[in-house]
Amino acid sequence: MPKDISPIVCAIGSPLLCPVVKEQTIAPRYDLKRMRLSVFVPLALAVAAAVASAQQPDLIQNPAARHGASLDGRWQYLMDPYEAGYLDFHLNPIKDGGLGANRVPRDKGDKYELAFLPATPALEVPGDWNTQKPELLWYEGSVWYRREFDHPMAAAGRQFLWFGAANYQAVVFLNGKKVGRHEGGFTPFQFEVTGMLKDHANAVIVKVDNQRHADAVPPAMTDWWNYGGLSREVRLIDVPETFIEDYQVQLEKGSMDRVAGWVRLNGVRKRQKVTIRIPEAGAAFPAETDDNGYARFAFPAKLSLWSPESPKLYDVTVEAETDRVQDHIGFRSITTQGTKILLNGKPVFLRGVAIHAEAPFRSGRVFSEADARTLLGWAKDMGCNFVRLAHYPHDAAMTRLADEMGLLVWSEIPVYWAVQWENPAVYAKAERQLSEMISRDKNRASVVFWSMANETPLGDARTKFLSSLAAKARELDGTRLITAATLPHAGAPNTVVLDDPLGRYLDVMGCNEYIGWYDGPPEKADLTSFQNTYDKPLVMSEFGAEAPFGSHGDETTAWTEEYQANVYRHQLGMLQRIPFLQGMAAWILMDFRCPRRFLSGVQDYYNRKGLFSDRGEKKQAYYVLRDFYESKVSH
Ligand code: GCU
Repeated sequence: MPKDISPIVCAIGSPLLCPVVKEQTIAPRYDLKRMRLSVFVPLALAVAAAVASAQQPDLIQNPAARHGASLDGRWQYLMDPYEAGYLDFHLNPIKDGGLGANRVPRDKGDKYELAFLPATPALEVPGDWNTQKPELLWYEGSVWYRREFDHPMAAAGRQFLWFGAANYQAVVFLNGKKVGRHEGGFTPFQFEVTGMLKDHANAVIVKVDNQRHADAVPPAMTDWWNYGGLSREVRLIDVPETFIEDYQVQLEKGSMDRVAGWVRLNGVRKRQKVTIRIPEAGAAFPAETDDNGYARFAFPAKLSLWSPESPKLYDVTVEAETDRVQDHIGFRSITTQGTKILLNGKPVFLRGVAIHAEAPFRSGRVFSEADARTLLGWAKDMGCNFVRLAHYPHDAAMTRLADEMGLLVWSEIPVYWAVQWENPAVYAKAERQLSEMISRDKNRASVVFWSMANETPLGDARTKFLSSLAAKARELDGTRLITAATLPHAGAPNTVVLDDPLGRYLDVMGCNEYIGWYDGPPEKADLTSFQNTYDKPLVMSEFGAEAPFGSHGDETTAWTEEYQANVYRHQLGMLQRIPFLQGMAAWILMDFRCPRRFLSGVQDYYNRKGLFSDRGEKKQAYYVLRDFYESKVSH
C-alpha cells in the first residue's frame, strides 16, 4: 500500500482498524536494572550527555531565536477526503505528487484539475481547521494547505522549513518537490530546503491528515477533540552553513551550583571554539567541539535558583565561531528522596490542575501566547504552582510562559488508553514523539516531569513498552523526573493499592482516581485509604467531577455545581490523609470539546469537568479548590 495514503481506501473499511504506514521496527531494548548497575558518576555523566546529544532528534533548538521568516497567516486550503489530490482512480500515487506538484492549468484548453486557484478559500495558520469553518468541525481526513512566499538572498547559508506541529500526519512539498513527511500531532518537525528556494513566489504545500488509527499515537479512541491542521506556527529558518543545531544548559543532576550540558553543531566546520555565557552570573565557559561537532561542558556558577515563588530566568548565550543563539533559561534542581519531591533540595507540594490545549472563549487548539497566558493565569489565580499539560506536548508558548510565570510542568506524550503494545512500529512512533518533546523543552526550568502515558491497561507488553520509553527518556535527559498516570488498583475494601508494575521504572507515581464520580458516591472518599508498594512520591494526576456552569440543585444531584463541589470537598479530605502524596492535579481547569460526551443539554460534546466553563465562568468547585490551595500555602 502506498505510504502516505489515509486508510479510507483500506480493504478492511473502518479507518479505526486500519494501519497508518509501515515503519522500521525498533524492539524495546532497555533494562533499567542494567542501567543502574553501570553508573559511575563522572564517566556516567560524560557518557550520558554524549548519548543524550547523539540520540536527540535533528531539531533546531530554540527556533524562535533564529533568523528567518514566519509563514503564519492565510493559507489556501482544499478538503480532500478521497485523497484525490494524491491518488489516481486505481489508487496509485499520482506520479508528479498530485496537488503537491504545485501545477496550475497551462492555458484555456488545459483541463488539469489538481490545482490551487485564486478562488481557492483560505484558513488561518496556526490554527485547527475544525473551529474555522462549520463544515470542518467534525471533519477527519486530508486537507491540503498552500502558501506562497518570497525569500530574497535564498543563496546565503542554509534554510529549514520548521513546523511547531501538524495534526496528525503531514506530507510537505516545496516548489512542487516533496521534502518529507511527519507523523505525530503535537511535536515540532523540520526539513532542510537549502538550494530549493527561489527569491520570489516559493510555494509550500502541506497535506495534513488527521484520521485516527488503531496503530497511531494517540490511538483511535481518546477523550478529546481531534483538532486537525497546521495547528502551530510555521517558520522558514535561515542559519549559517555550520550552525548551532542543538544545546542543553541546565543544572548538573543533583547539584545546585554547577551548570552542565552540551552543544551540537551541524555543518562542515565541526571543530570550533564555543562559549557558554551567563553574563548576569559572570559565567563565560569555553569549550571546543569534537569531530562530530559536539562539546560537553560543566562549570561552577553562582545562580539564584528558579522556583514558582521566584521564577528567575537568565539570559544565556551559546556562542560558536560561526553562529550564536540566545535563550532565557532558569536553573533549578528537581529530585526525589523516598516519598518526597525536592525542588532545589527542599520538599515541595504540587498544588496543581490539569489543562487541555483547548482555547478559552473561542474553543479550538491553543496556539498563541495569549491563550496560554489566560489558562496559566487562571491556574495561578487558583493558587497553583503546578500544571499537568494533558495528554500531549502543548504549544511551546505554554512551557515558555510557565518558565516566566513560575509554574511547574508535567509534560506527556499521548500514549493514551488502548495502544498497540506489541507493534514495534507503534513503539517507534511513541519513542519519536518522546524524543521530539524532550528535545523541544529540555531547557525549560518549569518542566520537571516527563510522563510516558495515561491510563494504560496492565500487561507485560505494555509494561515493556512503557519501561523502554522511560529508559529512553532518562537517556535523553537525566535531569528530570519520569512518571506516568496509572490507574488505581482496588485492594482490600476501601483501599487503593499503588502496585502497578510500571512503578518500578518511574521516579514518581501518578494515579488517576474518580472516587465520587465514576467510582461510588462522594462520601466513599471519606472511607478510602491508599497504600503505596513503592517508596516513591505520589502525584494524584486526576480527580474530579462534572457539571455544566449554571446547573444547580442539591449536592446529591449529579451534573450540578453543588454535586461537583461536594465531590471536591470529600476528595480533598481523602487526599490530605495520604502520607506519601506530594502533589495533585484536578481534572480539569476548563471544560473542553469532546466527541465522546453527548448528553444533551448537559455536555453537548463538551467534557464538563472543568473548574471553569469554556467561557471562563468559575464553578463552585473552583472556590473549594482555591481555598484549599490557599490553606496549603499559608500552613
Ligand atoms: C480520564 C482521562 C481523561 C478524561 C477523564 C474523564 O481519566 O485520563 O482524558 O478526560 O478521565 O473521564 O473526564
